[in-house]
Amino acid sequence: MEIRFGLFADLHYALPESENRGYSQRTFDDMKKGLARFAEKEVSFAVCLGDIAQPAADRDEQYRQIQTVVRTWSHYGFPVHPVMGNHEFQQLTLEDMLEILQTDRTYYSFSLGDIRFVILDSAYNPDDSHFSANNFDWRYGKLSDAEVHWLKALLADGKRTFLFTHGNFYLDPDEYCSEWYHVLNHREICDILEESGCVEAVFQGHHHTFRHALHRGIRFVNIPSPERSPAYCEADFPVVEILDEGFLYNGERLI
Ligand SMILES: [Fe+2]
Repeated sequence: MEIRFGLFADLHYALPESENRGYSQRTFDDMKKGLARFAEKEVSFAVCLGDIAQPAADRDEQYRQIQTVVRTWSHYGFPVHPVMGNHEFQQLTLEDMLEILQTDRTYYSFSLGDIRFVILDSAYNPDDSHFSANNFDWRYGKLSDAEVHWLKALLADGKRTFLFTHGNFYLDPDEYCSEWYHVLNHREICDILEESGCVEAVFQGHHHTFRHALHRGIRFVNIPSPERSPAYCEADFPVVEILDEGFLYNGERLI
């Protein structure tokens, strides 16, 4: 069974009258081009790695803005799985996001054939409360204690697994302020991933640049943000193809 999936991260989509960030007024259009590319490549699904939008004039406008993005996802013939970022919760509550996404969960797993994919939620505060309506500090997110417990139990069967998270589990410590991009419990999580022996790669958002590293036998890949690119480019909307051994990232093996 051939499995391909598309990835995009940190659109930070800014409405024309909103505070811009890099090229973020263009990123909604980029997303549509990226989703069309994914459809052409016949992906089974795509994952949005969080930070969909910049703040809008008010809460209602932000709600409509993110709802427009999410509704657009449904026009391309494959599901788009949402990973919670931090910017979703500047103006919106967790309940707002669940309503927009028409779901009751922010972390879950699904399988295609023998391969498992896990959507994780790194938008929890140190006290285990969820980010909501600006009650967070972007440097101090984590997986909730219950989520870590759930993940450890899930991985116990040893099934080949790929993970998706906004906050990072591993980023080169030499990166500027690397620790801020990590979830608070990244060491505990990396212990669990390594001990499971079945996690092949972790796809991460949050850092806005393409980075990859092999750490403790697991490939950690940061997906770039189109807000940093002067024009739409395929590098910001990578396609991953799973092979019997390893995977291709935009047609190439990461070494
Ligand atoms: Fe971001």
